[in-house]
Amino acid sequence: MSARASRGEGSGRILAIETSCDETAVAIVERGRSIHADVVASQVALHAATGGIVPEVAARAHLRWMIPVLDEACRRGGAEGLAGIEAIAVTEGPGLAGSLLVGVTLARTLAWLHDLPLVPVNHHEGHLYAAWLRDAGEPEQPEPELPCIGLVVSGGHTFLVLVRDHLDYIRLGGTVDDAAGEAFDKVGRLLGLAYPGGPAIAAAAGRAVRHDRRFPRAWLGDSDDFSFSGLKTAARRAVAEALGGSPGTVEPDGAALPADVVAELSWAFQDAVVDVLATKTIRAARRHGVRSIVLGGGVAANQALRDRVAGGAHALGVPLIVPRPGLCTDNAAMIGAAGWRRYLAGVRAGLDLDARPSLRLAA
Ligand code: KG4
Ligand code: ZN
Repeated sequence: MSARASRGEGSGRILAIETSCDETAVAIVERGRSIHADVVASQVALHAATGGIVPEVAARAHLRWMIPVLDEACRRGGAEGLAGIEAIAVTEGPGLAGSLLVGVTLARTLAWLHDLPLVPVNHHEGHLYAAWLRDAGEPEQPEPELPCIGLVVSGGHTFLVLVRDHLDYIRLGGTVDDAAGEAFDKVGRLLGLAYPGGPAIAAAAGRAVRHDRRFPRAWLGDSDDFSFSGLKTAARRAVAEALGGSPGTVEPDGAALPADVVAELSWAFQDAVVDVLATKTIRAARRHGVRSIVLGGGVAANQALRDRVAGGAHALGVPLIVPRPGLCTDNAAMIGAAGWRRYLAGVRAGLDLDARPSLRLAA
């Protein structure tokens, strides 16, 4: 085999690395679409004890799992020794500085050792491009058509973006306070549910018998911005009242609440978040006359949100593409998908690539 072939030039296979938050992930993706390996070591159990992410603990866990995750991805993708890999893509930001640094350092080292192009990727861009992915053996499906509206809803970020063309974004709006996932996590804690709050609230909401409680929605006029802090306050008040007390300054302990009350409050909270996210997404899609809608980020794993946006998209006659839940939460396959587009566009980083914790997607 020639050196070029063993380096994978022309194979279209990108080895992608993602460590921006609390998942250590490596994937091998072909031509931005087809997943050959997708390995994610989650730190959820580690952070459950503290009810949230401690940055130093996250960075140390990345260091511990980075190489085993890389080895496993190469084994599953048949790329031992990085045979057949055409480029390395890595999340450069945004995210936790120490966590990002682990992935960026590995990517730089691999690019240097194997003489491969190094492609920097924005984590949010990855969440959008997850909509382009498909699993091995999954039938070929049409790609999302551009322009599209993308809603990225995660634990750290919530925003609406107009994707005019590949790698060409206009940020329409975003949260002015908490991210949607952060609100799920905080209200989950108020209700005495396990961390992370999103899946726990979704499960509890599914057990609700009564659906008549209504939490406030912050519409913020006609803007594409979001606000969830008022909703969090309303949830705190409701928990305090359900416990028979008045909403004071002390955080109420939802662990003492009966299961049916937790279910009803979970449903009401989820309904309010989903209502605002779905309504604004569909409104933006109509306003910009887009050809598709994509959802990404951990909260896009929420079935109520998926159903609500699907209904609106159907009424508008615009296809909705939502990755399967495992590709909505943080993973490296999505970095491979976005990395491929950047690679095709000639985007390259030098071996001095640094972590960019505050990187933005668009102005
Ligand atoms: O994208 P992600 O894995 O990490 C970040 O970049 O933040 O998103 C994690 C967030 C957490 O806040 C979690 O509670 C939320 O996604 N989440 C959900 C669901 N699954 C995960 N929120 C609502 N419903 C879900 N099913
Ligand atoms: Zn994310």
